[in-house]
Amino acid sequence: MSYTSGLKRGVSRRKFLAGTIKGAAAAPVLLGGLTSCKSANQIKGSGKVKSQQLEEIINRRFRREKIAHLPTPLEKLDVLTAELGGPQLYVKRDDQTGLAFGGNKTRKLEFIIADALDKKAEVIITWGGEQSNWCRQTVAAARMFGIKPVLVLSQKEAGAVKYDGNLFLDALLGADIRFVAPGTDRSRITEDVTEEMRAQGHNPYVVAVGGSSVGGSMTEPIGAVSYTGAFLETYNQAQEMSIKVDYLVHASGSGGTQSGLVVGARAAAPEVKVVGISVGGAKAASQRNITEISRGVFEALGLEMTISPEEIIVFDDYVGEGYGVLNQEIADAIRLTARKEGILLDPVYTGKAMAGLMDLIKQGYFKKDDNVIFMHTGGTPALFAYKEQLLEMIK
Ligand SMILES: Cc1ncc(COP(=O)(O)O)c(C=O)c1O
Repeated sequence: MSYTSGLKRGVSRRKFLAGTIKGAAAAPVLLGGLTSCKSANQIKGSGKVKSQQLEEIINRRFRREKIAHLPTPLEKLDVLTAELGGPQLYVKRDDQTGLAFGGNKTRKLEFIIADALDKKAEVIITWGGEQSNWCRQTVAAARMFGIKPVLVLSQKEAGAVKYDGNLFLDALLGADIRFVAPGTDRSRITEDVTEEMRAQGHNPYVVAVGGSSVGGSMTEPIGAVSYTGAFLETYNQAQEMSIKVDYLVHASGSGGTQSGLVVGARAAAPEVKVVGISVGGAKAASQRNITEISRGVFEALGLEMTISPEEIIVFDDYVGEGYGVLNQEIADAIRLTARKEGILLDPVYTGKAMAGLMDLIKQGYFKKDDNVIFMHTGGTPALFAYKEQLLEMIK
């Protein structure tokens, strides 16, 4: 999908309408040796963009609110590496991004809240499960900017709601929560609440779970764009620490995180392989979803590059019994990481991703002298919602 085809499809190309949006470039962007006049923002071929240039493109094209504590640390995991016998492991602490216990959504929300404010939204409506980290962080970000947060939360089980973990925090932050009983149509409830807000005279900003896919009020994949920035931040830190990065491994859900990372790698450092561990989706569907979002990010950034589903590395081998279902491998990964490194993982995303990483190491997927960065995407409040089960499993 090229930038031009995006125009044909009528995708919002607001950044090309010089001067219409704060921070957008009114004149062609100068990109060192890559500059030409008319298509100054279009760069062809992977690995051709210096990370600083890509950062400049992101900053010029997209406005963001300062919410996250950046850069997050990149740390060496020597004890865990010794325990597992190599490759050399590192952790990128995106659990430390700030915003109501942190996590990957903070970066996404810097762009999404800015978009909501630009669109004069007074209410933000989104959805997820009872233990959604996305919802918790969206509520906190909305509160920072005086926007009313409305959540449509799918109940795991019928009956009384248990206010624990993320759900407890949603309540503490004062979200307007609409519960969806199992088997009920979530999209219908979302439409109804959107109409309700309009009828009350509010201008709602509707954004899909995870802030990854375009739809509702979000016309460009700005959540994923934030993870292209995260890739550059990580890559630059690694360079400063003289680390040659071979792999970046992380939990993959709605796909925005992986898409942003994949675009960053393809554009600026194609030698880095981005490996997603699916937390719920099947491999082929995840590859298609991530490809679509990634192409949208290329387009949004004016990069004339593309990617195909087969090039997306995602493992669905660790999904187990499904999204949010804890198993012994996840519990073991959480326990080992806590007891070797003092780092807390969560039962739904990062624990599963670490279980996947540990198994891939066991299977010999990596070389002993590879450098592997584990992107810790947060999610730790969910630990409390799973504590009884976890305590049983870590005995
Ligand atoms: C803690 C955590 N890690 C990883 C992810 C996956 O990110 P994405 O939905 O962008 O694939 C999520 C998504 O909710 C999350 O909450």
